[in-house]
Parts: sequence; C-alpha cells; structure tokens
Amino acid sequence: MSNMRIPQEKFDEIAQANDIIDVISSYTNVKRRSKSFIALCPFHPDRNPSLHISPQKQVYHCFSCGASGNVFTFVQEYEKIPFMEAAQKLAVRAGIDMGSFSGKPDLSSEMSVQFEINRAAARIFYDNLNKLTGTEKDFVWGYLKKRGIDKDAVKKFGIGYSLNTWSSLFSHFAEEESFSPEDLEKAGLIIKKEEDNARWYDRFRGRLMFPIFNENDKVVGFGGRKMHEDDLGGKYINSPETRIYNKSKILYGLNFSKDSIRANDYVILVEGYMDLISLFLAGVTNVVASSGTALTEEQVQLIKRYTKSVVIIYDADIAGIKAAKRGTELLLEGGLDLHVVTLPEGDDPDSFIRAKGKKDFDMYLSRKQSIIRFISGLYEKENKLSTAEEKADFVKEIISYIVRIPDKLKAVFYVKEIAQMYKLYESDLRDAFTAANRQYKKESFPKTSVVIPASKRPLSATHKKTTAVKFSAAERDMLDVFINGGYEATQYLAENIHIDYITSPAVLILAEAMLDEIANEGRIDTARIMENINDTAAKELLGSLSAPKYEISKSDTLQTHSILASSEKGMLNYNRIAKDVIKQFKISRLENLIEEIKGDHEMGNRIIELQKKIRNLKNGVNDTSYDEPGEES
Ligand code: GTP
Ligand code: MN
Repeated sequence: MSNMRIPQEKFDEIAQANDIIDVISSYTNVKRRSKSFIALCPFHPDRNPSLHISPQKQVYHCFSCGASGNVFTFVQEYEKIPFMEAAQKLAVRAGIDMGSFSGKPDLSSEMSVQFEINRAAARIFYDNLNKLTGTEKDFVWGYLKKRGIDKDAVKKFGIGYSLNTWSSLFSHFAEEESFSPEDLEKAGLIIKKEEDNARWYDRFRGRLMFPIFNENDKVVGFGGRKMHEDDLGGKYINSPETRIYNKSKILYGLNFSKDSIRANDYVILVEGYMDLISLFLAGVTNVVASSGTALTEEQVQLIKRYTKSVVIIYDADIAGIKAAKRGTELLLEGGLDLHVVTLPEGDDPDSFIRAKGKKDFDMYLSRKQSIIRFISGLYEKENKLSTAEEKADFVKEIISYIVRIPDKLKAVFYVKEIAQMYKLYESDLRDAFTAANRQYKKESFPKTSVVIPASKRPLSATHKKTTAVKFSAAERDMLDVFINGGYEATQYLAENIHIDYITSPAVLILAEAMLDEIANEGRIDTARIMENINDTAAKELLGSLSAPKYEISKSDTLQTHSILASSEKGMLNYNRIAKDVIKQFKISRLENLIEEIKGDHEMGNRIIELQKKIRNLKNGVNDTSYDEPGEES
C-alpha cells in the first residue's frame, strides 16, 4: 500500500475512530484523573504513572521521559513499526476500510462487511420512503409531516422506512447476492425462523427507520419506530448489539452534534431519536440522545471528549430523578458538571420545541439548575422536608449524589449550601457526607483493604521488628497530615513543602504521589495512591500509616521527638502539626547546611547567620525571615 494514494482525510478518519484513551488502554493500564488520564509510561521504566493523556486533545505526554504524540505515534513507538503499519492496525481496529481507495471495497474483515451491510440497508430504507406510492405514501409522509419532518430532514438524518411485509429487505439483498443471509443475520437485520432453519424474515417491518451512526458517520444500526396499529412490537425496535454496534459506546446524534457541543462547551442530553431531531430542526444542535437506555460509563467518557458540562432534561418529580439515578451518578462520577432543566408536565423536548419554538426552549435552558439544587428543590416542592424523618431521608438522598462528585472542594461547597438553604445543621450534613464518602470509597475501590502480611508489617504493635524504611519524625508526621489532616492542613503542606526537605526515598515516593494527588484531585485518596505506586517500601509505609493510630504510636522505630507522639490523643490539631512539620523540615535543612560548611573557616559568619535562623524558627519568629537555602547566592 503506498502512502501517496491515501488522502489525509483517511488518516483523520482513522484518528477520529480510535480514541487515544481506548487505544492506550489496550496496551497499558490507564486511570482516570479529574482532568486527564494517566498511565505508567511504556517508553521508560516508570514507577509512578507519568504518562498523561488528554482526551480532549487526543495526545499523550510523558512528564518523565518526554515521549509524546498522538494515537499513531503511540502505536508506532510501542509496536516499533512504521507509520503506515500503525495506521493500518488502527484502521482494522476501528473497522475502517483502507483498501477502498484501490477502487473496490475490502470485505475481508467481518467488521467491514457489517459496515457495508448497514450502509446498504440504510440506502434501501431511505429509497423505500421515497418510492412509496398511494395510501401508504400518504400515510407515512403524513405521519412525518405531523412530526415536523420534511424532505430535508429525512435526508439529513437518513430517515427511511421498512416496508410492511415479512421479508422485503431480505429479498432485496437475496436478489443482489452481495451478502450472505448469515452476515445479514449477524448485522441484526434479519431473523431466522425457528421452525424452519432455512428461512429468514426482516426484523424491521412497517417502521420508520432511524439509522444510528457512529462518530465517523457510519451506520452501525437502526432504531425503528412503530407506525401501524396492528404492529404488536414495542414502540421502538432497535438493532441488536453487533460487532460494530456496541450500544454502551454509542450516543445517538453525536456524529451530527460534536462540533456544536465543542463550540457551546455543553451538551444537552435527551432520551429519544425524535427529541434530538426536533431540537436540531429548531436550531438546537448541541444534543445527544441516550435512546431510552440507561447511560453507561463509556458514554460518559464519550461525552467528556467534547465537553465537561451536561444539561439533562428531567421529568420534574422525585420519581423521575429516581428512575434516572444511575445515569446521573455516572455523570457525576465522571466529574461532569451536571445541570437539569424541566419542561412543562407532559412535554418532551420534541413536543415542546415544536409547540413553543426555540426561544421558549432557550428560556427554559437558561433556568437550568445544578443537579444538587434541583433535587433539593424537588424535595422542598413536594413538601418532603417537614418532619425529622423526611429531613433525614432527604439528607441521605442528596448526600448519595454529592459523594460522587470527584472534586471534593465542590462537594463540600454543596454540603454547606444545602445546609444553609434548608436550615439543616451543617455538622449533621457534613457527618453524613463523611460517612457516605467513606462507604462510597470502599465500594468503588475494593482494593483499599491492602493486607500486608503480618510478617511484613513494619509498624505493627505485635511485631516490633525494625523496618527497612528509615524516616524522620517530621517525615512521618508529614505523611500523617497528608492522610488524615483535612483540607487546610494538607493545603498548607502542599504549598510549603520542598521536595529537598525529604531524605527518605520511600517517603519521597509517597510525598510525590500525594502532592500529585492534591494537585490533580484536590485531596488525598490513599487507596488510589496505593494502587499507583510500585515501590514495596513506600507501599508498606503507606499501609502502616493508614492503619489505626495506636499501632503507630506504639512503634519503637520512631524517633522520640515525634510531634504526634507528644500531641494529646484525640485532640490532634493537624493545622498546627502541618506548620510544625514545615518548621522542623526547615530546621533540619539549616542544620545539615551548617554541617556541610562547618570545616570552612571563611563561612564562620554564614554559620552564625544560619544558627540565628534556626533560633528564630524555634522561637516562632515569622517564617519569612527564613530563606530557602538552595535559593541563596
Ligand atoms: P415518540 O413517541 O416517537 O416521540 O418517541 P419518544 O422518543 O418520545 O419515545 P419515548 O420518550 O417513549 O422513548 C424515548 C426513547 O426510548 C426512544 O427514542 C427509544 O429510543 C426508546 N424507546 C421507547 N420505546 C421503546 C420500546 O418500546 N423499545 C425500545 N427498545 N426502546 C424504546
Ligand atoms: Mn416523544
């Protein structure tokens, strides 16, 4: 295959069809971070995940070894193959036919066949609609007209019609002999008769056909809407899952709306094919439809490639939100900003916008509420906040949403806001939040309970062996603040720590991982850190520090002047400890510096200066008198 014969658009198509997160995930374990994805870098020996992948930009970059590029370079460099081979590999992966530039379609792979069949079927359905005659024509086109769909709309969305007979589609394909019945069956278009193995009938009969496209505008399946009274099937029948139609990874309409979603930086999530089409026809184009199924995690990831902000249109009652709860939770867990719009009772987006127009729809959009406020408002509206039990119920429900917000600062903000709005005790709400958060973390990170064999438990009260991990009291207290200290104390540490302060390699690994967590997540998740570090000593240290306090304080491996050891039990003031830790670090640094220059007579004055700084630090004189040693001339 020669490079020159393949137009750039083909490579663009391949790149678009291969989400970089998916591709890299198939080579190395990729983990979600709030803003990006991270992985252990396969291009150098990587201890902490330092490969950052941007789903928006579709690029990767390793902050450690500098490797960077797009989906093609990743495959090229990982597999050590030339560009064309990487492109070919990715094309196959996405079911894209690279051979079609040589004139004839490449039907060698099963996926290509499926794409070809779906394309042909869409064409047949579309032609059916346009070739109708007589009463059937009047009936079907009358229906379309009633629903606001004209010829242009039919064309844009590829809408078609499956004839109201048992096997017209099958016969059509049989005449052309282009595809085998088995392949048509695999595509979900025909079904084998149970009593007669050699006979097939059409899945879609007498239905309005909505082709379902993937992101590259390829038809992967169909939704067929019932048109005839005597049709005993459901209102909608959809293609089954096939090699090319993975329902959990497709959002209806995304191929039409992705540019608009990026441009608006939010997406409106609706339920039905017709909702999306009617909004489009009215000029609202940043829409996708879930097609009536529960939203999946993959769909959330798909959305996140285009925007971080979702507006959902909900039925305005508690039953409505409970029905959509799982999808809502997934959106929140995905770190998406979630807002809710409610339309007048009995309306869906389709009926509303056709009756009232875009202006009114925009007005409703502008009244969107954050999901948390919306749910709270519902409880208030439905008068479910009067008794103590009702309030308790409400707190439980609302907290179950708030814990799923990965940005814990935002979550805490909601806790505060809800408490104020509904005159609840903030401490009650916060306690409920903390408990729920703990429970939630347990459920979503089952690996939390890292069990270090007793023989290896360095700080266990029962096995008083000395550990191989050596660290200072200040270092240990620092880690303790990170793990247990709360926002303010942790933030203080994050702002004031210098990596140079830390001398123990294991502590350094943990500190780096924790600072990284704070930078990316705004909080420390011990379980996740545990998962992400490979260093055994660091892992053991983290495990032991996460264990109940008494085990630590009974340990004989710690130096006696530990700040924590001298704190009153149960009255730990982490903010103060954080300050002490930094102070202690600074003192140690200065002391080390003095050690280094002690023999040098010319440095006599410098030593006196440094000693004065140490005294000032110890006496609590303003920290600004201290200069970072490394920064001095
Ligand atoms: P219209 O009545 O044509 O306006 O459809 P709608 O989109 O308003 O339907 P509804 O709100 O009832 O359903 C929303 C979506 O759920 C539809 O677009 C379908 O994707 C899906 N859906 C609805 N009914 C069925 C059904 O009977 N079977 C299946 N599989 N899906 C359905
Ligand atoms: Mn509808």
